[in-house]
Amino acid sequence: MSTLQSERTAVSALDVRGDFPIFARRFEGKPLVYLDSGATSQKPSAVIEAMDTHYREHNANVHRGVYALAQESDAAYEGARAKVAQFVGWEPSTTIFTKNVTEAINLVAYAWGRANVGPGDAVLTTQMEHHANIVPWQQLCRERNAELRYLEVDERGEISLEQLDRELARGDVKLVAFTHVSNVLGTILPVVEMTARVRAAGAVSLVDGAQAVPHMPVDAGSIGADFYAWTGHKALGPTGIGVLHGRAELLDEMEPFLTGGDMIASVSFEGATWNELPYKFEAGTPPIAEAVGLGAAVDYLDALGMERVRTHERELTAYMLNRLGEVPGLNFVGPPEAERRGGLVSFTIEGMHAHDIAELANRGGVCIRAGHHCAQPLMRRLGVSATARASVGVYNEPGDVDALIDALLEGRRVFGL
Ligand SMILES: Cc1ncc(COP(=O)(O)O)c(C=O)c1O
Repeated sequence: MSTLQSERTAVSALDVRGDFPIFARRFEGKPLVYLDSGATSQKPSAVIEAMDTHYREHNANVHRGVYALAQESDAAYEGARAKVAQFVGWEPSTTIFTKNVTEAINLVAYAWGRANVGPGDAVLTTQMEHHANIVPWQQLCRERNAELRYLEVDERGEISLEQLDRELARGDVKLVAFTHVSNVLGTILPVVEMTARVRAAGAVSLVDGAQAVPHMPVDAGSIGADFYAWTGHKALGPTGIGVLHGRAELLDEMEPFLTGGDMIASVSFEGATWNELPYKFEAGTPPIAEAVGLGAAVDYLDALGMERVRTHERELTAYMLNRLGEVPGLNFVGPPEAERRGGLVSFTIEGMHAHDIAELANRGGVCIRAGHHCAQPLMRRLGVSATARASVGVYNEPGDVDALIDALLEGRRVFGL
């Protein structure tokens, strides 16, 4: 066996591509090679069919009707909440459906932040965050005259627990918000160690799990975060639904984020009282069919087994890191070891702009992303304007990585490099 073949067979197969109808598509006769799951995942038939069946057979608004159809819709929506909560080891009553992870983080920044962060206080985040975990804190700190500080990213794409300790020792930090897995560097942060330190310092922690929950076993309960947020569309689920898990003591004390129907206990001309958790934070008609779809997505992932998913994606990432090394002038960012990263690799190629890299990959039928990946401050820290990023999902196979490498080598030839 050649080295390449033996490396390829070292990637444990999940063999699930047939479950994803989109892979029947052809682009100029070429099969779809999708290496952009970091942006959004493809959807298995189980998810598409669950949403289709919901609309065909069970559609009614929730929490309002006494008739049988409405009760079916209620059961579907609350059943999905129970599955989603169980998937990450949390209680359904403190699992809130939002529009996406961005809205989940905003919910905390408004409903918890505006009440608990004031002049002289600090919010701490990291230099590797997605804009969704920076801009809400910038707005909060600007409004409340508080300071926003950042944990630095080192040359390996990691943060330092010593710096976290030093920041917390200053005594002014009210909240620490950090990603579980970086969407640019791929770095897996030591979230358990971090939340423990934050709690010991009397501060509150928020973990952005957007790039973690779809790709590895996550037990949000044992991670020990006060808030853990993620987004459905990256986890084989539909767009339009995100999840916020929060500690009951904090959620109970918080004022609502959005107000209106469904989130109230009673309303008079003078004022209103709030519904119980989690409904206090779900104003208006919620994403019912989307919840059903996300429920089907976590069922699907559960059936695959998240340990197997992680093993497959880690091995595939190791294979990708190895093969990218064959492309002259290619530099990737983030930790060199696949076990310290999620299933994505961001890179630059000397002499080529990131957008040209993505365009040339596209000519080879390979979908990768190029740009700042909604992490402009990190790009500045890395000293680049943009990177190309290849990210994997359960349906990827070593052949997809080979197609990427072929396209990159061909791209270098086109560029005369
Ligand atoms: C780490 C991280 N956080 C937040 C987001 C934002 O997700 P959404 O647009 O679903 O709110 C993303 C999406 O790219 C992400 O990768």
